[in-house]
Amino acid sequence: MQLGLKDRVAIVTGSARGIGAETALALAEEGACIVVTDIDGDAAAAHCAALQGAGHRAIAVAADVTRQADVERLAQAAVAAFGGVHVLVNNAGFVRDARLTRLSEADWDAVVDTVLKGAFLCTQAVAPRMAAAKWGRVVNISSRAHLGNPGQANYSAAKAGLLGFSAALALELGRDGITVNTIAPGFIETDGVRKLPHYAKIRDNALARTPIGRLGVPRDIAAAVCFLASEAAGYITGATLHVTGGRYAT
Ligand SMILES: NC(=O)c1ccc[n+]([C@@H]2O[C@H](COP(=O)([O-])OP(=O)(O)OC[C@H]3O[C@@H](n4cnc5c(N)ncnc54)[C@H](O)[C@@H]3O)[C@@H](O)[C@H]2O)c1
Repeated sequence: MQLGLKDRVAIVTGSARGIGAETALALAEEGACIVVTDIDGDAAAAHCAALQGAGHRAIAVAADVTRQADVERLAQAAVAAFGGVHVLVNNAGFVRDARLTRLSEADWDAVVDTVLKGAFLCTQAVAPRMAAAKWGRVVNISSRAHLGNPGQANYSAAKAGLLGFSAALALELGRDGITVNTIAPGFIETDGVRKLPHYAKIRDNALARTPIGRLGVPRDIAAAVCFLASEAAGYITGATLHVTGGRYAT
């Protein structure tokens, strides 16, 4: 199948490492021009250099998705470098886990702002540019945790919020040729999860509950993003794709 991503311009937030970095690479391998962007500017530059070293077209932009000025600068950089924006992957996010009674307001705000406000600001910045081209793909990276995980009220709320955000925008932006979809990954081995306290216990628990019988890898999510960003997925919008190895509520 031809994905039709050649020469498309893709912004992937939080793409210095992990799922975002692999997604940027997979889109680049399909011929897209990549904007590697992350709050960690040095790591974004390093991943951009690796993509360029492999012969791909890429730029790096240091940006915090929760800051509107950063996000507008990011969109402008994409247009200046590659002439437009066609694909946005709202991937930046992290966990700050605590049971309700111990969950701080700061950790609530950090997670909800990065996941939800970040997706809002980035989509708002690029949607007019996509609409001008009458073609756009927004892919929001949620989580299986949108179904609820104990100790993750902030993360589960933010990731469930992304489903509502996507559903509303699918209705709003369809006429502009823009699709908006969500991917809900299960446990994917990345630096982000490896540094969690009790990582080994979380990993073993995830593996035991995953019918496919292995842990997820970033390429599993990158492949799903490439499909939803592709020409082939043009009639899919407002959908949530679970990429969990068959694991759902528990
Ligand atoms: N790894 C998993 O098991 C898993 C499962 C479900 C969902 N997810 C989601 O996938 C996404 C990527 O996860 P990962 O495991 O690759 O994480 P990761 O920690 O490896 O990478 C996340 C990147 O986001 C960046 N980032 C954080 N805050 C930012 C901000 N305000 N602005 C810009 N960049 C910011 C970080 O610097 C980091 O480079 C996250 O949204 C995460 O919630 C991951």
